[in-house]
Amino acid sequence: MSFTADRLLLFGATGDLSQRMLLPSLCALDADELIDDDLKIVATARSEMSDTEFRNFAREALEKFLPKDRRGGMAHFLNRLTYQQLDATTLEGYDELARKVGEPKNGLAIFLSTAPSLFGPTIKGLQHAGLDGPNVRMCLEKPLGTDLGTSCEINDAVAAAFPEDRIFRIDHYLGKETVQNLLALRFANVLFEPIWNSNYIEHVQITVAETVGLEGRVAFYDDAGALRDMVQNHMLQLLALVAMEPPTSFDSTAVRDEKVKVLRALRQVTRGETVTGQYRAGAISGKSVPGYDEELGKDSDTETFVAIKGHVDNWRWKGVPFYLRTGKRLPERVTEIVVQFRCVPHSIFAGKGATMQPNRLVIGIQPEENITLSLMAKVPGLDREGIRLRQVPLDIAMPDAFSGAVRRIAYERLLLDLIEGDQTLFVRRDEVEAQWHWIDAIREEWTAEDLKPKTYTAGTWGPSAAIALAERDGVSWHDE
Ligand code: BG6
Repeated sequence: MSFTADRLLLFGATGDLSQRMLLPSLCALDADELIDDDLKIVATARSEMSDTEFRNFAREALEKFLPKDRRGGMAHFLNRLTYQQLDATTLEGYDELARKVGEPKNGLAIFLSTAPSLFGPTIKGLQHAGLDGPNVRMCLEKPLGTDLGTSCEINDAVAAAFPEDRIFRIDHYLGKETVQNLLALRFANVLFEPIWNSNYIEHVQITVAETVGLEGRVAFYDDAGALRDMVQNHMLQLLALVAMEPPTSFDSTAVRDEKVKVLRALRQVTRGETVTGQYRAGAISGKSVPGYDEELGKDSDTETFVAIKGHVDNWRWKGVPFYLRTGKRLPERVTEIVVQFRCVPHSIFAGKGATMQPNRLVIGIQPEENITLSLMAKVPGLDREGIRLRQVPLDIAMPDAFSGAVRRIAYERLLLDLIEGDQTLFVRRDEVEAQWHWIDAIREEWTAEDLKPKTYTAGTWGPSAAIALAERDGVSWHDE
């Protein structure tokens, strides 16, 4: 059902995500007049607070996490906020919450930014208070379970109150500008699609490298590990966007139908196709950082790094490896997709200096948003011993190409889509389940092998076995 919500109910309003991302994004949307004046935001959490106290709390968060030049409409935004204390696990309190929300003119969007263990009780409470009508949509933050079974439990609990077309599952990577640009690159240009297949592409690499460590999320991260924290969601979504067939339109059903086909075509990973690692003390940008065990305060077998050689078993991608790697405490923060093309079938250039290198497309997602295509070119000069060739980059730096355009954080896009009811950049249940299906099989393989993470020094690109995983196939990771 299509409506623009005029009420937003935010669970977990005092939490980390709310302070860092949700409140700043909503405030920025407000300042740019992208949300209607009649949108009221009701915040709820366990702490006792008055409306005024919550507004002060929100102001502090905005001053900390929203750049100064985007705080223009802060007073206007803070006026939209009201607060209701709630213990999400008991039914009492939900009626009061419903009264605070009031009767929306068009509809209500609910954002659950709480621990998934609270999703079930919260849904029951919402049903009890009648906050589950046809003009209510529900948005869920990760983690959606820890495996296929627990993810199904969460999805079943939500499905008991909301149909799929009113459930918005966040994967914030889908809100990133360059991730959407990947679709523009593939489907708004005639150049790439004819060669976007195993005839011309030799392999694909997807890297999500972080310099940060645990950042205080000790218990959550130690339970999750890199595979479930990053690969199950963000990296598989990136892979699906790279590998999917052209959808018939940029419409939520068409796009998600194509993504899920890719996720279902992922070949089960076998022994030797994954490497896990855990950082020990080292240095990042010259600054010493402790090892994972020290940060955690105990020994642990949780992986903070994972590298995987995956395959998509369909016609387009037959025989093309997809190398994925992600880790904490790596030398730099970089998220990028590298599409490595094959060499020309025959070189007409003989002689010294005519060594051919294959074309490569690098899509930089962060910190820099750029697209670089490496091409072979002739080195200028009178080459009496034969033509000399060198690889040169064709670079598009997105901020330069679109100077003046506001660079928005992912949650601005996603919150606006939630309010307006566009599901294209949200993850459908069948996608989440296909993702877990593949991830669970990897974890079963690790258990069967009794695989323990290899150590790597913080500030390096993971264990040497990860380099070997690619090098065995004659591939080098794209480190720069
Ligand atoms: C989150 C993970 O989903 O994504 C974090 O739980 C990770 O561990 C974060 O740091 C990375 O997001 P971004 O947008 O900074 O790349």
